Amino acid sequence: MSKEVILTGLRANNDLHIGHVFGAMLPIIDVAKQYAGKYQVNMFIPDLHSFTTPIDHSKLQQQIFDNLRMFVAAGLPLDNPNVHIYRQSYIPAHSELTIIMNNFTGMGEMERMTQFKDKSAKLGTNRVTVGLFDYPVLMACDILLYGAAYVPVGDDQSQHIEITRDLGQRLNARFDQELFVVPKTVKEQHEFFGKDQGLRIKDLADPTKKMSKSDETGKGVIFLNDSPEIARKKVMSAATDSLGGVQYDYRERPGISNLLDLLKLFGGSPEDFIGQTQYGPLKSAVADKVTDFLEEFQSKLTSVNDDKILQKLEISEEAMAKQANQTLFKVQQTVGLRSKDG
Ligand code: TRP
Repeated sequence: MSKEVILTGLRANNDLHIGHVFGAMLPIIDVAKQYAGKYQVNMFIPDLHSFTTPIDHSKLQQQIFDNLRMFVAAGLPLDNPNVHIYRQSYIPAHSELTIIMNNFTGMGEMERMTQFKDKSAKLGTNRVTVGLFDYPVLMACDILLYGAAYVPVGDDQSQHIEITRDLGQRLNARFDQELFVVPKTVKEQHEFFGKDQGLRIKDLADPTKKMSKSDETGKGVIFLNDSPEIARKKVMSAATDSLGGVQYDYRERPGISNLLDLLKLFGGSPEDFIGQTQYGPLKSAVADKVTDFLEEFQSKLTSVNDDKILQKLEISEEAMAKQANQTLFKVQQTVGLRSKDG
């Protein structure tokens, strides 16, 4: 039997931040290290998704490689033959399956996607593209082509995992066969990766919303390339409340609760701070952890070997194109684009 697939994509034109590390990178890297051989691990760059909101195209190549380096600095083991890194646009099956899948996807269900609504509201009608509208279909194809069971993503992407399941199941039912292996439910995935995997890090400046790359000011976001000094400042000026007293309570004290969660994610002990009257010591403890982490991460980043990345890309892209093409061919046969005789 072939191995279960764990897959995630990290967009290149977004500055990566600690939410990505705990939400997507570490879950997948931990699995890759812990169960080498048991799972196939795909960590890829959805470069075609980069155009869905306006970008500086002259920077994209650089950003793609920066992200790949970050995967390696975060600990992705490139020498493991079950680990694959690739660029979406190098595997044409992603685009081809999307064009087919579009015809089984409702306008209404895409219009209801929260991320589409949020992003289009920000862009304004004239700048919303068909590409942005179709974003979830391409993402579903990224996942279905490899029959990925587990897809660690941030909470904001949960709806896209659900639509992936819907589309996969829809075609399976429509053609009465197991064309696609669909990903597990979001709940099952959270159980698999463990609920401490930081899928819910909040913005430091506005702890009612998720830490997100699309935050314009970046004040509440710890980016992986922030200098330790800047990161410390961001933590120390994190929004808290005037209630006083360190308590874990997301409703009344979202800022403090987020800091307690962060401390735990970075391996500290939130218990030591519960009940304290001052917020300062907790903030300092979080700042220490965050700056230690960034220093170590950034020093690893400088020693990443680019040639190894290029070699791995070449091998992975060839192997993954084969896998993806098998799924695509099955779909093409089923929908009548190819003869069933092979
Ligand atoms: N939409 C994801 C994000 O912005 C990136 C992505 C694209 C992805 N295709 C994917 C994530 C497939 C997981 C699986 O975070």
